[in-house]
This record gives sequence, structure tokens and C-alpha cells, in this order.
Amino acid sequence: MVLWGGRFTNAINQNFKKFNSSLSFDYILAEHDIVGSIAWSKALATVNILNKDEQEIIEKALHEILNEIHLYPNKILDSEEEDIHSWIENRLISRVGILGKKIHTGRSRNDQVTTDLKLWCKSQIHLILDAIHRFQNSLVLAAEINQHVIMPGYTHLQHAQPITFAHWCLAYFEMLIRDQKRLNDTLSRLQISPLGCGALAGTAYDIDRDQLAKSLGFSSASGNSLDTVSDRDYVLELLSNAAIGMIHLSRFAEDLIFFNTEEAAFIELSDQVTSGSSLMPQKKNPDSLELIRGKCGRVQGALMSMMVTMKGLPLSYNKDMQEDKEGLFDATNTWINCIDISTLIMDTLKVKINRCEEVVTRGYSNATELADYLVKKGMTFRESHTIVGKIILEAIKDNTKLQEMSLAKMQKFSCLIDKDVYSILELDSCIKKRNAKGGVSFEQISFAIKQAKKHLDVYHK
Ligand code: ARG
Repeated sequence: MVLWGGRFTNAINQNFKKFNSSLSFDYILAEHDIVGSIAWSKALATVNILNKDEQEIIEKALHEILNEIHLYPNKILDSEEEDIHSWIENRLISRVGILGKKIHTGRSRNDQVTTDLKLWCKSQIHLILDAIHRFQNSLVLAAEINQHVIMPGYTHLQHAQPITFAHWCLAYFEMLIRDQKRLNDTLSRLQISPLGCGALAGTAYDIDRDQLAKSLGFSSASGNSLDTVSDRDYVLELLSNAAIGMIHLSRFAEDLIFFNTEEAAFIELSDQVTSGSSLMPQKKNPDSLELIRGKCGRVQGALMSMMVTMKGLPLSYNKDMQEDKEGLFDATNTWINCIDISTLIMDTLKVKINRCEEVVTRGYSNATELADYLVKKGMTFRESHTIVGKIILEAIKDNTKLQEMSLAKMQKFSCLIDKDVYSILELDSCIKKRNAKGGVSFEQISFAIKQAKKHLDVYHK
């Protein structure tokens, strides 16, 4: 039964009824709607709309409805109600009779729906933060195990300078810290309760809204009812958190897809996260990573879609805003799933240490060391850059590595080069030199791992 039949004389068109309904997706809010309704019933008791016994009957019935939902989740979807708010109110009325018809006093679905959605966002953010924490744990573990594994670092997908596998792991750890901070920031703005704003102009009952807010775990009540029922900034924020978080995961996925190719072969993905080809027996495809990379698209889409939905909407509530849910639910669930699969991938991959080192010695990624060496001997960097470029050209022509070039040959380019050059061209030396904060040196990485572990511990406190 709809909540608004009185002023209508003709029946709703059946196609429009389906079009108008949000129950098939907002059933997700059932638990939060019940929690909100219980809090509202208590507020109604403070203004004598409900007496103590009536409030208790309503609260008990709402708890029973929640149990019913847990036991028979499909019951909601089998119904033809317009939305979850109507479903719960009508279930209440069928349980407690006419008394149930008092629950909506002074309340509107406009303040109700945004209260439910904010409560849902808050609990969803905690789930995302938990997932991020698990992923960070796995990255730190991999960093710790692979602290001394040297591999090529890339810019433009060309060998640039040597890095360690640990440095790569910790790069994603840092991105995840920013994701956490953004989520916590969003969470801080989710502490304002909409309940008691009515349809748009506030409730006509003398309810202590701050008290009501606290009873629902918010820190205070909102300041302007018109804004409150129109505000979906928190949806946009959470979606943009998800969009950025998924961009991080898609880059993680792309890196590993490349590392796993026959050409790079720096890692081997486990059988647990790969699939075969129906035709080519030799194939072991990185489907898990490709799906993470691919699913990034729908999350960016959800953000764009909601931005465009909100643009130019007049105050206050408009039904356009019912479109806030599906994209949000899908985007945050996708994000959590992708974080969890990323964790599994990290936990099960094998780093091919010898191969990493073999490849890194091939690509002239120690060329900067030679330029720095000449700087130390008194040359300007710009000059040394040009000279080393020429040496590299010669090495390419001779098909040799820098560290294998004869001293006499190098000296043809600069008499400043001496036999001490060979030690600086060694991989270990390239790594150790980058010892300023944030660099790839073994010392810095071991410090970064300690910091990362501290960060992980703080989460539990
Ligand atoms: N299903 C609606 C939504 O999700 C609930 C609010 C309905 N309010 C209204 N005035 N029709 O936005």
C-alpha cells in the first residue's frame, strides 16, 4: 500500500509503478531504516505523540521485522511496495495495527532516506577501511620479504633507474594511506544527522534533534533543513573516494599484468588467481588483474553519473535523487571486492628474484650513476649528461653493458673516468646512494617498512 493514496482518485499506471519503485535496490537500507525508526519512535515519545507503552510496542515490532528480514531476506523483494520506507512502515502497521500509523508523525521520507543512506555510508566506509588495512598488511609483508630484490624502475615504460620490489610495494602502500585519509575525512562530514528535518522545512514537533542525532551515533543535528534534505555531497564524496581508490588499484593491476608477461617475467601469479584459455593449453591469464583494471570503469562512471544527476537540481528534494543509490552501492561493493582480490593476488604471487636482477643489469639503468660520478669529479651535470649519452650510444653499438665497457674506451669520452667507476656502476651502489628520505636505498626502505608497520598498528588502537 502506498503512503500517499488519499488525494488520488485513479489508480497508478502499472509501468509507472515499476518505474517509480526503488525497493529492488533500497532494500539494502532496511536495517538502517529500522534503527532510524526506533530512534524516531523514542523522539516521538519525548513529545507525547507516543506514550511509553506504545513506543515499546513499536520498538519491539521493529526488532521483530528486522529478525524477519534476516530470516527471509527475499520477503522484501517479493512485495510490491514503493520503497523500503513504505515496506517497513506497512509491515509495522500489519504487526501493531493502527498504532503503527503514528510512526511517520513529523517525519518525511526525505529526511528518512538521507538518514538511512548516511548510516549506510558510515558502515560501508568501515568495511572499506578494513579491506584497505588487510591489503596494506599484505603489501608490507611482501616489501619485507623482497627488500633486497632489485628490479628495473620505469618511466615511459622504459628502464629508468633500479628500484627494489619492496619500493614498488610501498608505493601502493602510500596511495592506500591517502585513500584511508580521504575516507576518514568523508566520515568526519558524515557525522551530521538529517533526522528531524521533515520534508524540507523542519519538523513541527519540539524534538531535541541533537539528542536524536547522538542516539543514532551522529555527533550533532544538521543546521538547515532545506539543505539537509537536498544534500548528497556525501554520496559524491564517497564515490570520488572510490573512483580514486579504484584508479590506484587499476594501476596496481596494470603493473602486475606487465610484470607477469613473458617479456618481463618478474613475477609469477598463483594458479588461484589466474584462468586458462579454452583453446590454447599453454595459457595462464591474469584475469583477476584484468578484472580489477576493467572494473575501474564502472566506478568512474558511477561518480560521473551522480555528479550529472545533482547538477542544477533545485532545492529541495527531487525524485532525481533516488538515483543516488544503485551507483553508490555498486561502486563501493566493487571497490571492496577489488581490494580483497588485490590482497589475495599479493599474498600468493612469487617474485622471480634472479630474473629481476638479470633484466635490470641490461637496460643501462645505471647511466645516471655515471653522470653523477663525473659531477663528483668536477664536471657540470649538463656536460656529464651529454658525455654519458655518448658512452651509452657506444655501448649499444658494441652490444655491451656499461659495467662491462673497458676503461680505455670510457676514457676516450672523458679523462676524468678512472677504474673506481666500476664500483659505482654496480647495482647495489645505485640503490644505496639514494638514501635521502623517500628514496630506494636499503636503509630508507627498512625505515619505511618500520613506519608502515607503525601505521598498521595504529589502526587497531
Ligand atoms: N525512494 C525515495 C528515494 O530514494 C525516498 C524518498 C521519497 N520522497 C518523496 N518525496 N517521494 O529518494
